[in-house]
Amino acid sequence: MTEPTPTSRPSAAELQDALQAALSWWDDMGVDVPEIAPPKPVTRRSKAAPKPAASPKPAVRAAAAPEDIDRAALAQTLAKAAPTLEALKDAISKFDAGLLSDHAKTAVFARGNPAAKIMVVGEAPGSQEDEAGLPFIGQSGQLLDKMFAAIGLGTDEIYVTNICNWRPPQNRDPSPDEMAFCRPLIQRHIALAAPEIVVIVGGVSLSALTGQTGIMKARGRWIDLTIEDRNIPAMPLYHPAFLLRRPELKRDAWRDLLAIKARLEGEPAP
Ligand code: URA
Repeated sequence: MTEPTPTSRPSAAELQDALQAALSWWDDMGVDVPEIAPPKPVTRRSKAAPKPAASPKPAVRAAAAPEDIDRAALAQTLAKAAPTLEALKDAISKFDAGLLSDHAKTAVFARGNPAAKIMVVGEAPGSQEDEAGLPFIGQSGQLLDKMFAAIGLGTDEIYVTNICNWRPPQNRDPSPDEMAFCRPLIQRHIALAAPEIVVIVGGVSLSALTGQTGIMKARGRWIDLTIEDRNIPAMPLYHPAFLLRRPELKRDAWRDLLAIKARLEGEPAP
C-alpha cells in the first residue's frame, strides 16, 4: 500500500487535528463552517474490564479444517448465486472469512443509496465502522461525505462500501489471500448496484479492483473497470484518511472531484 494507514487508535489530539483539517477543507471550498466544541476527554476501558460478549460466529462455516477452505472459490460461488443486493448482504454476513470474521464484530456491507449513480469503494472498515456495521462513519467518512457534498452530492446520492467487508485485526491491510475472497464479493456488489461511476478510494482498493499499484500516480485518471462484461468508468481518489494527514493534497482531490462531477453531468473534463 502506498499510503500510510493508522495502526492504533488516534489520540484525542489527533482526532481534533483531523476534524480541523476536515473543516478547513470545507472552508477552502468557500463554505461557512460551524464552531466546534473542544473534544471531551477520552476515557479508556481499564485492562481489568471484562471483555464484551463474543459476537455470534458466522452461520456458514465450511466443513473442512479452516486452512483447507478455498474461500476464494466459495466467495465466487456465493457471489454468483446472489441475485440481489439483499441476498449478497445476507451471504456476506454468513461467510466464514477466517481471521477476518473471527476478529470483526460484524460484516460491514454498505450505506447510502444503492440506486445512486456514484458508488464509492473504500478499503476496509475501521473500529467505528465495525461497531456500527456501516462503512465510512468515522473521521475519514466524515471527510468523504464533505468531499462529495462539495460537488453537490449528499449522502443519499452516493452509495458507499469497501473492498473488504470485515475490519482486519489491528486495522492492517487485507492480506493477498483475504483479497482473493473479498474480490468476487465486491465485484458482485458493484455489478448488482450497477452505478454509472465507481470512485476507487485509496491504494488498497485500487489494487484490489484493477491490479494497479500506486494511488499517487493513478489518481485523477479515468480507468475502465470491467465488471461482469460491463465497462464502468472509475476514478481513483486519494483516501480521505490520507488527506487528513496530507492536507496539501486536497487540491488534487478537488480536481478529481470536479472531473467526477463533470462526467456525471456529461460535460467535458475541467
Ligand atoms: N476507511 C475505509 O476505507 N473504509 C471505511 O469504512 C472506513 C475507513
